[in-house]
Amino acid sequence: MTTNSPDYSFDVLIIGSGAAGLSLALRLAPFAKVAILSKVSLSESSTYYAQGGISAVFDKQDSLESHVEDTLNAGAGLCDSKIVELVVSRGRKSIEWLLDQGVPFTHNTLAGKPNKLHLTQEGGHSHRRVVHAADATGKEVELSLEKQALEHLNITTFEHHCAVDIITAKKQNKSPQRALGAYVLDTKTGKIHTFKAKTTVLASGGANKVYLYTSNPDISTGDGIAMAWRAGCRIANMEFIQFHPTCLFHPEARSFLISEALRGEGGKLILPDGSSFMHEYDERGELAPRDIVARAIDDQIKRLGIDCIYLDISFKPEQFILEHFPTIYARCLEYGFDITKQPIPVVPAAHYTCGGILTNIDAKTDLSALYAIGEAACTGLHGANRMASNSLLECLVFAEQAATAIQGYLNTSPGSLTISEWDESQVSDSDEEVVVSHNWEELRRFMWDYVGIVRSNKRLERAKHRIDLLQSEIDEYYGNFRITSDLLELRNLVTVADLIVQCAMSRHESRGLHYTLDYPETDPEQQNPTILLPEDFN
Ligand code: FAD
Ligand code: SIN
Repeated sequence: MTTNSPDYSFDVLIIGSGAAGLSLALRLAPFAKVAILSKVSLSESSTYYAQGGISAVFDKQDSLESHVEDTLNAGAGLCDSKIVELVVSRGRKSIEWLLDQGVPFTHNTLAGKPNKLHLTQEGGHSHRRVVHAADATGKEVELSLEKQALEHLNITTFEHHCAVDIITAKKQNKSPQRALGAYVLDTKTGKIHTFKAKTTVLASGGANKVYLYTSNPDISTGDGIAMAWRAGCRIANMEFIQFHPTCLFHPEARSFLISEALRGEGGKLILPDGSSFMHEYDERGELAPRDIVARAIDDQIKRLGIDCIYLDISFKPEQFILEHFPTIYARCLEYGFDITKQPIPVVPAAHYTCGGILTNIDAKTDLSALYAIGEAACTGLHGANRMASNSLLECLVFAEQAATAIQGYLNTSPGSLTISEWDESQVSDSDEEVVVSHNWEELRRFMWDYVGIVRSNKRLERAKHRIDLLQSEIDEYYGNFRITSDLLELRNLVTVADLIVQCAMSRHESRGLHYTLDYPETDPEQQNPTILLPEDFN
């Protein structure tokens, strides 16, 4: 068949340049021409800001069985145990692969020389099993993978290119819809390009910017999840948004996380009067899984009518703090807090999207030639609550799974199909950008107020009502005006907000990260993932 001439043509188009996208590109590059899109600069991703580390079994006292068990416990009955076993079993190999890519993980020193990998601890883990690069693990991973990708002749990177929608071939008989690439906005020129690809991969990260307070960078607007939904993929478990218990509380400190590793190394959560409270909520205290810690903090903040609680590590030797938490130390000092001498003011914030695009063990979505990996995907690993440091591991393992599957698919020589050009003939430039910024603000605020750590039927209904209004306003705006990246992100955020609320409304129990006042107990009958079907799904 013939094609209209696209602007670009590749074997594989990867939308996203975080840990998932970059590691997939590096695994594919020996046999395929790969394009990587990044909405902003290549580095700007959640990956870059990851602090704590990557979970993997290295300690002799530890075992794969124990890592599996901890992950299943944190996931509150909704993990897919086969997927958990797969991911956990690849921990050591994934870390070794990263070492080969040049990631400078922290090692213990013996007689002044680097010896074994240093392992830290985080909530939900019953052993020390978090491999890290001090408190800037993500930055070291991102920069090392980027360096390798930029040097590879088969990888082309496109910064400031924002994917708008997946291009799909019309359904024929019973065969599934097929992805053919994507329409992409060059945010520097405002031009839309057609990227044609034999295989397309969504590695576009999470959707946590849908909340007013978040640990995530601005790119986390759920674009991949919204695009997949519009293209006809099933979306699962969106009610399980993880709120990290400890983000720095300061009016100017946007999105700065205080790693769980501080609590892993003994840090205590305290109230303004210095008293600790976590043992009233869970016998694991500060190292209970995140859903429990975040809810306990929320409860104390509301009970006492205070703005924040405190995290104290100042009782540890200064040298230890500077060695293990140099980034956190420096950033807190900028805001006037010396963490070697005083407690840090902290609050919970939206951190991780456990749900996403439903994928199988090969990272395949419901569409032919469309894959999803990393935080955008729902693989079954996290269930109702992700255990700390399992996310980067999932990015690496599913990049490897996808690479194998895509290699097989490319070997079948998928034929070429006609793709339509982007049509801008009916639109004009907007003279009311304020509509977009106003709606952004409103959406993120009511999601925080009504669909946050503690939910209720009434709050969800209020949110749904507002989402429906915003959705129709944005659809009209989208149809009439030339698109900008802000408008695209807003459209995607409203879609993911709707998916979160739809999932939350359909779960009539409290489980893991979904807690509702109307159904405060866990119901064993509801131990199933929540799966949303797009309109014409069959
Ligand atoms: P990201 O790293 O978020 O990358 C997404 C990419 O997609 C970006 O390049 C972005 O530009 C691109 N993109 C998005 N939309 C589009 C579009 N429309 N067009 C083109 N490109 C697009 N997990 C751990 O396991 N351990 C940790 O210690 C840890 N610490 C964390 C600390 C912080 C502060 C945060 C925010 C998260 C942390 N996490 C941690 C979670 C983990 O970092 C993320 O889940 C993981 O990095 C996600 O990787 P990803 O590749 O899927 O997406
Ligand atoms: C942290 O360092 O606390 C974040 C770890 C994670 O989200 O896995």
